[in-house]
Amino acid sequence: GISNISAREILDSRGNPTIEVEILLEDGTQASAAVPSGASTGAFEAVELRDGDAERYGGKGVLNAVENVDEKIVEELLGYEASEQRLIDQVMLDLDGTPNKSVLGANAILGVSLAVARAAAESAGLPLYRYLGGPNAHLLPVPMMNILNGGAHADSNVDVQEFMIAPIGASTFSEAVRWGAEVYHALKSVLKAKGLSTGLGDEGGFAPDLPTNRSAIDLIAEAVGKTGLTFGTDIAVALDVAATEFYSDGAYQFEGAAKTAAEMTAYYEQLVADYPIVSIEDPLSEDDWAGWTALTAALGDKIQIVGDDLFVTNPERLRRGIDEKAANSMLVKVNQIGSLTETLDAVELAHRSAFSTMMSHRSGETEDTTIADLAVAVGSGQIKTGAPARSERVAKYNRLLWIERDLDDAARYAGATAFPRFKK
Ligand code: PGA
Ligand code: ZN
Repeated sequence: GISNISAREILDSRGNPTIEVEILLEDGTQASAAVPSGASTGAFEAVELRDGDAERYGGKGVLNAVENVDEKIVEELLGYEASEQRLIDQVMLDLDGTPNKSVLGANAILGVSLAVARAAAESAGLPLYRYLGGPNAHLLPVPMMNILNGGAHADSNVDVQEFMIAPIGASTFSEAVRWGAEVYHALKSVLKAKGLSTGLGDEGGFAPDLPTNRSAIDLIAEAVGKTGLTFGTDIAVALDVAATEFYSDGAYQFEGAAKTAAEMTAYYEQLVADYPIVSIEDPLSEDDWAGWTALTAALGDKIQIVGDDLFVTNPERLRRGIDEKAANSMLVKVNQIGSLTETLDAVELAHRSAFSTMMSHRSGETEDTTIADLAVAVGSGQIKTGAPARSERVAKYNRLLWIERDLDDAARYAGATAFPRFKK
């Protein structure tokens, strides 16, 4: 059983504080987990508890969340078997007592929740992906590598937050990683040759100023060409528009004009006709349910429409999205909902409803690699965890390389099968 739980305040990749939790079991097992943090957060996410003490980290300290773990949560959980994940998470939800985890903090609860899973896996002598996913967990995800950053993750004028490459034509995960890194480096030389900035955004992608959003995809196409790979069949494109960020006064403030949902949808239809795009995330704002339904009717049979801010990994919001056919895919962020159990519930509901899922990091990350194991455990077939550069991003890809080797001949790379709707 659990013999101790303690938390500490550490730094994330943006230099902001976050929480790390360590768990000790009576059998001597020790495990820890660290919690990520978003910048373009959805309004319906669980509450990330911050101290608000302006004397420390500009108010962003997490000492109250640390104290909630060290004094309140530990009291309730001593003696539980670490394998009783669902029970443990429920104890914390009950102790918090709010729908959005605002009393204890979703950061405090999630840190414990993930550390419990890691401790249970360790104690069972199993790698985390196998402990969580069982003996048939063997699908390696397509790494959706965000190589050009805009929106809230960059200082540039680019509206779309993430331009990702999807190495769908690779035959293994390690080949996909190599292709991704090669395109990333080719993109750097393309930008350099054009006199564009090679400075980076929060997720490790380049962040140049550009005349249009479309021109970002042209640059990526040029970079792919330089590597000798084929744009479309080897490397496809995925976008995270993060449209909630530029929705104001009832309109989408996009490329210098105020646009309606229907105009945005027409823009995406043309984009999908012109480029090999397999997936668009948050094409519209988190409240624009009718707009999402119309967009999914127009584009849902051609590409994946992913709800991030729309669903916030919340089974109740996902249920509405399924009923209203507002998307056909869900982004999975453990800290949006704040516990492993609820994350697994959301993924199960998505898969049962023929929604695909994409495992995801946050723009503020740590060296924690839990999401890599989680992607394989649930068989997502897709993960986005930033550029193939910067250690907090690469840690997840590196963990997946290790998992692929561990699985040996049993490993299967999802490739283009992760995007059944995509027709070239
Ligand atoms: P965030 O961005 O972590 O800053 O919310 C990631 C995303 O929007 O997918
Ligand atoms: Zn997003």
